[in-house]
Amino acid sequence: MKNITIITGASKGVGKELAKEFLLKGENVCLIARTKNELIKTQKELSKLTNNDIVAYNGNISDEKFVKDFYQDLTKKYNITCLVNNAGVGRFGTIYDNNKKMIDEVFPAIVYGTILMTTYALPYLKKSKEIVKVVNIISQSGIRAFKFESVYCSAKWAQEGYAQCLRAETFGTNIKVINVYPGGINSEFWKDNRNYVPAGIENTFATTEEVAKIIVDNLYNKESLILKDLVFEQTHMNLE
Ligand SMILES: NC(=O)c1ccc[n+]([C@@H]2O[C@H](COP(=O)([O-])OP(=O)(O)OC[C@H]3O[C@@H](n4cnc5c(N)ncnc54)[C@H](OP(=O)(O)O)[C@@H]3O)[C@@H](O)[C@H]2O)c1
Repeated sequence: MKNITIITGASKGVGKELAKEFLLKGENVCLIARTKNELIKTQKELSKLTNNDIVAYNGNISDEKFVKDFYQDLTKKYNITCLVNNAGVGRFGTIYDNNKKMIDEVFPAIVYGTILMTTYALPYLKKSKEIVKVVNIISQSGIRAFKFESVYCSAKWAQEGYAQCLRAETFGTNIKVINVYPGGINSEFWKDNRNYVPAGIENTFATTEEVAKIIVDNLYNKESLILKDLVFEQTHMNLE
């Protein structure tokens, strides 16, 4: 069976660039996202770079049935060596603007998705004879408070809580948990959130390519030197 790296939210943004970087390292990748046409477009685009396997599953990672069926199907052909919990949605507003619709948009991928995707991966990861990795793309918003991000910060702090517990329970096993805390990254994530950051601040954000390369490069240290956390310090984060 071939090895494979799973990346959630891989149709665009950071996830797509992570897939590119993993492919450049010689890995096979599995892309997941909800919007089928974008997902297939990305799969086709990436396939021009490599002969490695690029498989795509169209679905919602907060849907438990999708997640179960996904693992059952993928593991017929592949050994999972890395799961990247990357999918996420941000909806910003003041604490007076919050409503259920925002919560329902933000929590599924970040909280339900991270927990379900990891839970159903664990039996396969545990069986592996090799070191396997769960990489959680959290955010500075998962360890700090930012104005106008209360719903997003709540979801990211929940993801952070889960990631810390996951690390505690897998400590000393073949499963390594790497938590990543970037600041602002230029991506479509900001499409609906631009009004909540000062004009022009995006010029100081990282690019999706920069962030993905830093993450993936840091996953290939020797086995005795695996990093736990990747914390980004970016100048724009000094805002009140
Ligand atoms: N951009 C930033 O400034 C920034 C900073 C720090 C951390 N992050 C984190 O980095 C990660 C990637 O963000 P990004 O900037 O690359 O965002 P993005 O460009 O908006 O991409 C988000 C990806 O997640 C997918 N997705 C969302 N909900 C999903 C669900 N329920 N099931 C499956 N796929 C889902 C999207 O595709 P579909 O909508 O088609 O499903 C898309 O592929 C997120 O966790 C985000 O919180 C972002």
